[in-house]
Amino acid sequence: MIEIDQVYKSFGQLDVLQGVSMTVSKGEVISLIGGSGSGKSTLLMCINGLEPIQRGSIRVNGINVHAPGTNLNALRQRIGIVFQQWNAFPHLTVLENVMLAPLKVCGLSEEQAKELAVTQLSHVGLQDKLKVFPGKLSGGQLQRMAIARALAMAPDYMLFDEVTSALDPQLVGEVLDTLRMLSDEGMTMILVTHEIRFAREVSDRVAFLRNGVIHEIGTPQQVIDDPQRPETAAFLKPSH
Ligand SMILES: Nc1ncnc2c1ncn2[C@@H]1O[C@H](COP(=O)(O)OP(=O)(O)OP(=O)(O)O)[C@@H](O)[C@H]1O
Ligand SMILES: [Mg+2]
Repeated sequence: MIEIDQVYKSFGQLDVLQGVSMTVSKGEVISLIGGSGSGKSTLLMCINGLEPIQRGSIRVNGINVHAPGTNLNALRQRIGIVFQQWNAFPHLTVLENVMLAPLKVCGLSEEQAKELAVTQLSHVGLQDKLKVFPGKLSGGQLQRMAIARALAMAPDYMLFDEVTSALDPQLVGEVLDTLRMLSDEGMTMILVTHEIRFAREVSDRVAFLRNGVIHEIGTPQQVIDDPQRPETAAFLKPSH
């Protein structure tokens, strides 16, 4: 479970998160929506301890992410994160890129890491690309490789930050299919997305971030189809 409780986060004078509270239960898929600069990426970074917070707390599996004694490396192995763009190591093959973390971080043997990487690359449909270098992959394939790389750590949670927004329209579908598959498998996920239709389809709940707080949260039917607050409705309007 991820428990976000009254989180405040600012960058210097800029207050970004101003009392964000939200709980993500095991197996839940939550889409996080909100305008540019509303703090969606910042919230994801705070969840896996890439950014410190000023007040409040975030607990992952009961562990306080921002407590001084927390082993962030161990915690981050439980939380996979995939960004809009991931710079793969260009001189390593797809297989080697995905093997890297299990080898270096988990200390698996070459053989174990390879088996794991092959499994996850097959999982995302890249079994034919093991020996290929990242430069030869399409944007959609690169994103699926990034997802395989995160899955290779066998995380409890996956955080996705607009993983389709840098893709050509015809490549978006294959990445969304991969996310849909993970959701069907019961992966607990927070999905920052501008794909409102997709969010409606896969999410258990949708959270709308505005002015540093969760302005509205509920099922997709509640938040997307029948928003209770005018600001939510106004935000959703252009995408319909
Ligand atoms: N490292 C940083 N230092 C200073 N300001 C930052 C930093 N990271 C983010 N910000 C600022 O914090 C605010 C929230 O940024 P964030 O990237 O979380 O927004 P977002 O909701 O993800 O937006 P987008 O939809 O454009 O990705 C923005 O005003 C941004 O400029
Ligand atoms: Mg962002």
